[in-house]
Amino acid sequence: TNDESSGATARLEVADGVGTIRLDRPKMNALDVATQDLLGELAREAGRREDVRAVVLYGGEKVFAAGADIKEMRAMDHTAMVLRARGLQEAFTAVARIPKPVVAAVTGYALGGGCELALCADVRFAGEGAKLGQPEILLGLIPGAGGTQRLSRLVGPAKAKDLIFTGRTVTAAEAREIGLVDHVVPDAEVYEKAHAWAARLARGPALALRAAKEAVDFGLETDIDTGLAIERNWFAGLFATEDREIGMRSFVEQGPGKAEFR
Ligand code: CAA
Repeated sequence: TNDESSGATARLEVADGVGTIRLDRPKMNALDVATQDLLGELAREAGRREDVRAVVLYGGEKVFAAGADIKEMRAMDHTAMVLRARGLQEAFTAVARIPKPVVAAVTGYALGGGCELALCADVRFAGEGAKLGQPEILLGLIPGAGGTQRLSRLVGPAKAKDLIFTGRTVTAAEAREIGLVDHVVPDAEVYEKAHAWAARLARGPALALRAAKEAVDFGLETDIDTGLAIERNWFAGLFATEDREIGMRSFVEQGPGKAEFR
């Protein structure tokens, strides 16, 4: 699954501490069940591997992903989807739970499951020509790969409902305006810019980054006192790390800004 020449519909390419989870399923990177499960496996692999310190989600130059494979889904009945829906969500949750910085590099369409995949990243870079949306309503459905949950947490319930109720797609500029994407860049630079974000963090203190991600993500799912407990336990725990020792020593001995990562 991580061999570039294997013809797999998704693969993990690793270089210089950055793992790129690359979708590659013509046409439009439509996510059939096998690709959904493969995404989950690649996310777990990226989480496990020590040579992967940050992750880019990428669909290639033309399209991020046009969502679940509608032709495959059309053949599924109620029972089949009852049996499948959890697996779909688990695959996407595996991406969202990668305990490392994850950035989505969105070119072209990110629709339905494609938009939901981008929502599993910590930060989103989109090309000027990108189009995002949750068009499931036009199929008589609602998002099923976390969209109702992750989109509303990211942009708020009213904007999420507008997109989910109407199924309309938004341009990169509007997506930026509502907070669905964080950076809009020329189409040809999306991967490069997203990769640079990941590469910078790949040089950072891995445990502190993991702590930061978990404290934010799990803290958002709970009340503030529990969230603060998560924060302080991680905060105190980081005092056991070598990165903390190095970071503080270099501040004291060299001053701020001299440390490599800072
Ligand atoms: N599933 C299966 N095939 C798809 C697909 C999808 N999601 N999206 C596009 N394709 C296929 C098309 O059927 C077409 O195949 P053929 O050439 O064999 O006819 C090919 O990709 C190119 O598509 P278009 O001809 O439609 O290209 P376009 O440039 O005119 O439009 C598009 C591109 C706007 C992405 C349009 O294809 C589209 O609207 N796709 C569907 C998007 C969608 O509804 N996604 C949500 C899916 S449901 C979901 O994702 C559930 C969930 O929450 C997980």
